[in-house]
Amino acid sequence: MSAQQNFQSQPSDIVICSAPKTGTTWLKSLTFAIVTRTTFDDSTSPLLTNLSHDCVPFLEVDLAQSSTNRDPKNPLLATHVPYSSLPRSIIDSSCKIVYICRNPKDAFVSLYHFIARRLVFKDMKPLALEEAFELYCQGVSSYGPYWDHVLGFWKASLDRPDKILFLKYEEMMEDTAVYVKKLADFIGYPFSSEEIKKGLVEKIVNMCSFENLSNLEVNKSGKHREGTPGVIENKIYFRKGKVGDWENYLTPVMAARLDSITLQKLNGSGLTL
Ligand code: A3P
Repeated sequence: MSAQQNFQSQPSDIVICSAPKTGTTWLKSLTFAIVTRTTFDDSTSPLLTNLSHDCVPFLEVDLAQSSTNRDPKNPLLATHVPYSSLPRSIIDSSCKIVYICRNPKDAFVSLYHFIARRLVFKDMKPLALEEAFELYCQGVSSYGPYWDHVLGFWKASLDRPDKILFLKYEEMMEDTAVYVKKLADFIGYPFSSEEIKKGLVEKIVNMCSFENLSNLEVNKSGKHREGTPGVIENKIYFRKGKVGDWENYLTPVMAARLDSITLQKLNGSGLTL
């Protein structure tokens, strides 16, 4: 609510939006690397020594009280807030929004592990998978029911395709370079033919790959928001980074239930997940 009332968006802003566990860390890294590529390369990027969440602030956490603590040189910010609850200035200004979504079965499994690891870190007992699954199906999750979150941005992207780029984790995993170029064009930082010839797109793809980022010392042993009650080990943002890992955790009955909710919720929207 504080961010809603106080945040003043600039036309140059690029807002990375997502429901939790759908690829935020990756999209932040890719976007940051694209935007800063004339200042840093793949051997000097701050992404090699900082978690991407320390390079791109979260609206509802880092900027909730005031937008004045932003680095004026960094146009990037991120949020998990649903489209319908975004600050008016983000909707009304000419800033760009990039949204990433993911198959709900993988998003649930990823969320379950993330929360369980956070709770264990705080010496608390996580819910059983079955119990968490039931809540997720009922739409009880942070930032609201997953399907409503996705549909809010999907519908807005159809209405305003020049403002909102809608991405899917699975498609980006399949051919990341294509989406890095698309992303760069959309946010107004297109690659020149010279840069493409020099292999800059591939360098960014490789630098931001799961394999590379998850093996960096900062992401193996570093902590995010250290010294605050929200402290998190960086490594929990990197679990497997795979498409279809839900098969290892959900029974066929659970998978069918999530699929059927997804079909029902997305019916008529033109979106498949
Ligand atoms: P898994 O738990 O399925 O492995 P978020 O960044 O929104 O919190 O999402 C976390 C998910 O993205 C986790 O999925 C994590 O492993 C995966 N991820 C993190 N970095 C990634 C990267 N560079 N490339 C692909 N996936 C990545």
